[in-house]
Amino acid sequence: MKRIIIIGASSGMGQRVAADFARLGWRVGVAARTEEPLRKLKEQYPGRVEYTTLDVTAEDAVDRFYNLIETLGGMDYLLYAAGCGWRNPELDRALDRRTLDVNVIGFTTIVNAAYKYYKDTANVTRGHIAAITSVAGTKGIGISATYSASKRYQWTYLQALDQLAHQQHVNVAITDIRPGFVDTPLLNGNSYPLEMSIDYVAPRLEKAILRGKRVAVIDSRWAVVTALWRLIPDPLWRKVSIEIEKDDTK
Ligand SMILES: NC(=O)c1ccc[n+]([C@@H]2O[C@H](COP(=O)([O-])OP(=O)(O)OC[C@H]3O[C@@H](n4cnc5c(N)ncnc54)[C@H](OP(=O)(O)O)[C@@H]3O)[C@@H](O)[C@H]2O)c1
Repeated sequence: MKRIIIIGASSGMGQRVAADFARLGWRVGVAARTEEPLRKLKEQYPGRVEYTTLDVTAEDAVDRFYNLIETLGGMDYLLYAAGCGWRNPELDRALDRRTLDVNVIGFTTIVNAAYKYYKDTANVTRGHIAAITSVAGTKGIGISATYSASKRYQWTYLQALDQLAHQQHVNVAITDIRPGFVDTPLLNGNSYPLEMSIDYVAPRLEKAILRGKRVAVIDSRWAVVTALWRLIPDPLWRKVSIEIEKDDTK
Protein backbone atom coordinates (compact mmCIF):
# COMPACT_ATOMS: atom_id res chain seq x y z
CA MET A 1 0.00 0.00 0.00
CA LYS A 2 1.48 3.38 -1.04
CA ARG A 3 1.91 6.13 1.55
CA ILE A 4 1.63 9.84 0.82
CA ILE A 5 2.00 12.82 3.13
CA ILE A 6 0.26 16.03 2.16
CA ILE A 7 1.18 19.29 3.86
CA GLY A 8 -1.61 21.85 3.40
CA ALA A 9 -4.46 19.33 3.27
CA SER A 10 -7.15 21.23 5.18
CA SER A 11 -8.60 22.86 2.05
CA GLY A 12 -8.24 23.34 -1.69
CA MET A 13 -6.05 21.11 -3.83
CA GLY A 14 -4.26 19.39 -0.95
CA GLN A 15 -7.52 18.34 0.69
CA ARG A 16 -8.92 17.02 -2.59
CA VAL A 17 -5.82 14.99 -3.46
CA ALA A 18 -5.78 13.54 0.07
CA ALA A 19 -9.38 12.32 -0.27
CA ASP A 20 -8.73 10.90 -3.76
CA PHE A 21 -5.70 8.85 -2.66
CA ALA A 22 -7.49 7.64 0.50
CA ARG A 23 -10.39 6.50 -1.70
CA LEU A 24 -7.89 4.54 -3.80
CA GLY A 25 -6.81 2.69 -0.66
CA TRP A 26 -3.53 4.54 -0.05
CA ARG A 27 -2.30 5.41 3.45
CA VAL A 28 -2.49 9.20 3.64
CA GLY A 29 -0.90 11.50 6.21
CA VAL A 30 -2.37 14.99 6.26
CA ALA A 31 -1.21 18.18 7.95
CA ALA A 32 -2.17 21.85 8.20
CA ARG A 33 -2.89 24.35 10.96
CA THR A 34 -6.68 23.80 11.02
CA GLU A 35 -7.57 20.53 12.74
CA GLU A 36 -11.27 20.06 11.92
CA PRO A 37 -11.01 19.17 8.19
CA LEU A 38 -8.08 16.84 8.93
CA ARG A 39 -10.08 15.04 11.62
CA LYS A 40 -13.02 14.70 9.21
CA LEU A 41 -10.76 13.10 6.59
CA LYS A 42 -9.59 10.58 9.17
CA GLU A 43 -13.20 9.82 10.15
CA GLN A 44 -14.21 9.46 6.50
CA TYR A 45 -11.39 7.01 5.70
CA PRO A 46 -10.74 5.08 8.91
CA GLY A 47 -7.49 3.13 8.93
CA ARG A 48 -6.21 5.02 5.90
CA VAL A 49 -5.74 8.60 7.11
CA GLU A 50 -3.47 9.89 9.87
CA TYR A 51 -3.13 13.56 10.70
CA THR A 52 -1.26 16.14 12.66
CA THR A 53 -1.74 19.84 13.09
CA LEU A 54 1.36 21.58 11.85
CA ASP A 55 2.38 25.15 11.09
CA VAL A 56 5.16 25.06 8.51
CA THR A 57 6.57 28.28 9.95
CA ALA A 58 6.78 27.00 13.55
CA GLU A 59 9.87 25.69 15.34
CA ASP A 60 8.37 22.23 15.76
CA ALA A 61 7.35 21.79 12.09
CA VAL A 62 10.02 19.20 11.27
CA ASP A 63 9.40 17.19 14.47
CA ARG A 64 5.68 17.07 13.70
CA PHE A 65 6.37 16.14 10.08
CA TYR A 66 8.71 13.30 11.07
CA ASN A 67 6.22 12.08 13.71
CA LEU A 68 3.55 11.92 11.02
CA ILE A 69 5.86 9.89 8.76
CA GLU A 70 6.44 7.50 11.64
CA THR A 71 2.73 7.19 12.43
CA LEU A 72 2.05 6.44 8.77
CA GLY A 73 4.79 3.81 8.70
CA GLY A 74 6.91 5.63 6.11
CA MET A 75 6.51 8.03 3.19
CA ASP A 76 6.63 7.09 -0.50
CA TYR A 77 5.39 10.51 -1.66
CA LEU A 78 5.39 14.02 -0.21
CA LEU A 79 3.04 16.63 -1.63
CA TYR A 80 3.76 20.15 -0.39
CA ALA A 81 0.44 21.91 -1.01
CA ALA A 82 0.63 24.58 1.70
CA GLY A 83 0.74 28.14 0.48
CA CYS A 84 -0.70 31.60 0.66
CA GLY A 85 -0.73 34.70 -1.49
CA TRP A 86 -2.43 38.01 -1.97
CA ARG A 87 -2.77 40.83 -4.42
CA ASN A 88 -0.54 43.36 -2.75
CA PRO A 89 -0.14 46.46 -4.92
CA GLU A 90 0.39 48.56 -1.77
CA LEU A 91 3.33 46.32 -0.81
CA ASP A 92 1.91 45.76 2.67
CA ARG A 93 4.78 44.38 4.73
CA ALA A 94 2.66 42.09 6.89
CA LEU A 95 1.25 40.34 3.81
CA ASP A 96 4.71 40.09 2.28
CA ARG A 97 6.02 38.59 5.50
CA ARG A 98 3.27 35.96 5.69
CA THR A 99 3.83 35.00 2.05
CA LEU A 100 7.58 34.63 2.57
CA ASP A 101 7.13 32.72 5.84
CA VAL A 102 4.91 30.05 4.28
CA ASN A 103 6.02 29.92 0.63
CA VAL A 104 9.75 30.32 1.23
CA ILE A 105 10.72 29.45 4.83
CA GLY A 106 8.00 26.84 5.47
CA PHE A 107 8.41 25.33 2.01
CA THR A 108 12.20 25.03 2.45
CA THR A 109 11.84 23.59 5.94
CA ILE A 110 9.52 20.77 4.88
CA VAL A 111 11.03 19.96 1.49
CA ASN A 112 14.53 19.96 3.00
CA ALA A 113 13.35 17.59 5.78
CA ALA A 114 11.74 15.28 3.20
CA TYR A 115 14.95 15.21 1.15
CA LYS A 116 16.97 14.26 4.26
CA TYR A 117 14.42 11.55 5.09
CA TYR A 118 14.90 10.02 1.63
CA LYS A 119 18.65 10.46 1.78
CA ASP A 120 18.71 8.41 4.96
CA THR A 121 16.08 5.82 4.13
CA ALA A 122 14.95 5.53 0.52
CA ASN A 123 17.76 3.99 -1.43
CA VAL A 124 15.81 0.84 -2.27
CA THR A 125 12.44 2.18 -3.41
CA ARG A 126 12.27 5.57 -5.05
CA GLY A 127 11.09 8.53 -2.97
CA HIS A 128 9.02 11.38 -4.38
CA ILE A 129 8.91 15.05 -3.45
CA ALA A 130 6.21 17.02 -5.23
CA ALA A 131 5.22 20.62 -4.56
CA ILE A 132 2.43 22.75 -5.93
CA THR A 133 4.15 25.94 -7.02
CA SER A 134 2.39 28.09 -9.65
CA VAL A 135 2.63 29.53 -13.14
CA ALA A 136 3.05 32.82 -11.23
CA GLY A 137 6.78 32.05 -11.00
CA THR A 138 7.18 32.58 -14.74
CA LYS A 139 7.65 36.37 -14.51
CA GLY A 140 7.57 39.03 -11.83
CA ILE A 141 3.94 40.12 -11.41
CA GLY A 142 3.56 43.72 -10.23
CA ILE A 143 0.40 43.35 -8.13
CA SER A 144 1.72 40.16 -6.49
CA ALA A 145 5.44 40.82 -6.35
CA THR A 146 6.21 38.70 -3.30
CA TYR A 147 3.91 35.87 -4.32
CA SER A 148 5.37 35.57 -7.82
CA ALA A 149 8.93 35.84 -6.47
CA SER A 150 8.18 33.20 -3.82
CA LYS A 151 6.95 30.83 -6.53
CA ARG A 152 10.07 31.43 -8.60
CA TYR A 153 12.09 30.64 -5.48
CA GLN A 154 10.23 27.32 -5.18
CA TRP A 155 10.95 26.48 -8.84
CA THR A 156 14.66 27.17 -8.33
CA TYR A 157 14.89 25.28 -5.04
CA LEU A 158 13.28 22.18 -6.54
CA GLN A 159 15.57 22.34 -9.57
CA ALA A 160 18.61 22.63 -7.28
CA LEU A 161 17.42 19.73 -5.14
CA ASP A 162 17.03 17.56 -8.24
CA GLN A 163 20.64 18.27 -9.18
CA LEU A 164 21.81 17.62 -5.61
CA ALA A 165 19.97 14.28 -5.57
CA HIS A 166 21.77 13.29 -8.75
CA GLN A 167 25.15 14.31 -7.31
CA GLN A 168 24.51 12.56 -4.00
CA HIS A 169 22.91 9.47 -5.57
CA VAL A 170 19.72 10.00 -3.59
CA ASN A 171 16.92 7.98 -5.14
CA VAL A 172 14.20 10.62 -5.23
CA ALA A 173 12.04 12.19 -7.93
CA ILE A 174 11.47 15.93 -7.59
CA THR A 175 8.27 17.25 -9.17
CA ASP A 176 7.32 20.89 -9.59
CA ILE A 177 3.58 21.21 -10.28
CA ARG A 178 2.58 24.58 -11.73
CA PRO A 179 -1.15 25.17 -12.03
CA GLY A 180 -2.82 28.24 -13.50
CA PHE A 181 -5.83 29.69 -11.62
CA VAL A 182 -7.81 27.08 -9.69
CA ASP A 183 -11.12 27.65 -7.93
CA THR A 184 -10.01 27.13 -4.31
CA PRO A 185 -10.38 29.23 -1.13
CA LEU A 186 -7.14 30.99 -2.14
CA LEU A 187 -9.08 32.85 -4.86
CA ASN A 188 -11.72 33.93 -2.35
CA GLY A 189 -14.67 33.20 -4.66
CA ASN A 190 -13.55 35.56 -7.43
CA SER A 191 -13.36 34.64 -11.11
CA TYR A 192 -10.15 34.71 -13.11
CA PRO A 193 -9.15 34.12 -16.72
CA LEU A 194 -8.73 30.46 -17.69
CA GLU A 195 -9.81 29.46 -14.19
CA MET A 196 -10.06 25.70 -13.63
CA SER A 197 -12.23 23.68 -11.25
CA ILE A 198 -10.70 21.35 -8.65
CA ASP A 199 -12.50 18.45 -10.41
CA TYR A 200 -10.58 19.27 -13.58
CA VAL A 201 -7.23 19.89 -11.91
CA ALA A 202 -7.13 17.02 -9.38
CA PRO A 203 -6.60 14.11 -11.83
CA ARG A 204 -3.91 16.08 -13.66
CA LEU A 205 -2.19 16.87 -10.39
CA GLU A 206 -2.35 13.24 -9.27
CA LYS A 207 -0.96 12.05 -12.60
CA ALA A 208 1.97 14.47 -12.23
CA ILE A 209 2.70 13.14 -8.72
CA LEU A 210 2.55 9.50 -9.82
CA ARG A 211 4.68 9.99 -12.92
CA GLY A 212 7.36 11.89 -11.03
CA LYS A 213 7.74 14.27 -13.95
CA ARG A 214 10.27 17.06 -13.22
CA VAL A 215 7.90 19.91 -14.17
CA ALA A 216 4.17 19.73 -14.87
CA VAL A 217 2.20 22.81 -15.95
CA ILE A 218 -1.56 22.45 -15.48
CA ASP A 219 -3.05 22.66 -17.99
CA SER A 220 -1.85 22.73 -21.63
CA ARG A 221 -3.50 26.15 -22.18
CA TRP A 222 -1.44 27.51 -19.29
CA ALA A 223 1.67 25.90 -20.74
CA VAL A 224 1.08 27.92 -23.93
CA VAL A 225 0.26 31.14 -22.06
CA THR A 226 3.40 30.95 -19.92
CA ALA A 227 5.57 30.05 -22.91
CA LEU A 228 4.29 33.25 -24.53
CA TRP A 229 4.93 35.27 -21.35
CA ARG A 230 8.55 34.11 -21.46
CA LEU A 231 8.96 35.58 -24.94
CA ILE A 232 7.85 39.05 -23.84
CA PRO A 233 10.90 41.32 -23.37
CA ASP A 234 11.13 43.35 -20.15
CA PRO A 235 10.36 46.76 -21.74
CA LEU A 236 7.05 45.27 -22.95
CA TRP A 237 6.37 43.14 -19.85
CA ARG A 238 6.30 46.23 -17.63
CA LYS A 239 3.24 47.43 -19.60
CA VAL A 240 1.32 44.15 -19.19
CA SER A 241 -1.48 44.15 -16.62
CA ILE A 242 -2.28 40.80 -15.01
CA GLU A 243 -5.11 40.02 -12.62
CA ILE A 244 -3.70 37.28 -10.46
CA GLU A 245 -4.62 35.21 -7.41
CA LYS A 246 -6.61 37.62 -5.40
CA ASP A 247 -7.08 38.86 -1.85
CA ASP A 248 -7.72 36.18 0.73
CA THR A 249 -9.03 37.02 4.16
CA LYS A 250 -7.11 34.20 5.85
N1 LIG B 1 -5.73 28.43 -6.33
C1 LIG B 1 -4.94 28.82 -7.32
O1 LIG B 1 -5.36 29.52 -8.27
C2 LIG B 1 -3.50 28.40 -7.34
C3 LIG B 1 -2.81 28.46 -8.56
C4 LIG B 1 -1.49 28.06 -8.61
C5 LIG B 1 -0.85 27.62 -7.47
N2 LIG B 1 -1.54 27.57 -6.29
C6 LIG B 1 -0.81 27.09 -5.11
O2 LIG B 1 -1.39 25.87 -4.70
C7 LIG B 1 -1.11 25.65 -3.30
C8 LIG B 1 -2.40 25.21 -2.62
O3 LIG B 1 -3.31 26.30 -2.60
P1 LIG B 1 -4.88 26.17 -2.79
O4 LIG B 1 -5.22 26.93 -4.01
O5 LIG B 1 -5.31 24.75 -2.66
O6 LIG B 1 -5.34 27.08 -1.56
P2 LIG B 1 -5.97 26.82 -0.14
O7 LIG B 1 -7.27 26.10 -0.25
O8 LIG B 1 -5.94 28.13 0.54
O9 LIG B 1 -4.95 25.80 0.59
C9 LIG B 1 -3.81 26.24 1.23
C10 LIG B 1 -3.40 25.19 2.25
O10 LIG B 1 -2.19 25.64 2.84
C11 LIG B 1 -2.30 25.48 4.24
N3 LIG B 1 -1.43 26.41 4.94
C12 LIG B 1 -1.37 27.77 4.82
N4 LIG B 1 -0.49 28.27 5.69
C13 LIG B 1 0.03 27.22 6.37
C14 LIG B 1 0.98 27.08 7.41
N5 LIG B 1 1.58 28.17 7.96
N6 LIG B 1 1.29 25.84 7.87
C15 LIG B 1 0.68 24.76 7.34
N7 LIG B 1 -0.23 24.81 6.37
C16 LIG B 1 -0.55 26.03 5.89
C17 LIG B 1 -3.77 25.75 4.53
O11 LIG B 1 -4.14 25.15 5.75
P3 LIG B 1 -4.34 25.94 7.15
O12 LIG B 1 -4.80 27.34 6.83
O13 LIG B 1 -5.34 25.09 7.87
O14 LIG B 1 -3.00 25.90 7.80
C18 LIG B 1 -4.41 25.00 3.37
O15 LIG B 1 -4.57 23.64 3.69
C19 LIG B 1 -0.53 26.98 -2.80
O16 LIG B 1 0.88 26.90 -2.74
C20 LIG B 1 -0.89 27.98 -3.90
O17 LIG B 1 0.03 29.04 -3.98
C21 LIG B 1 -2.85 27.94 -6.21
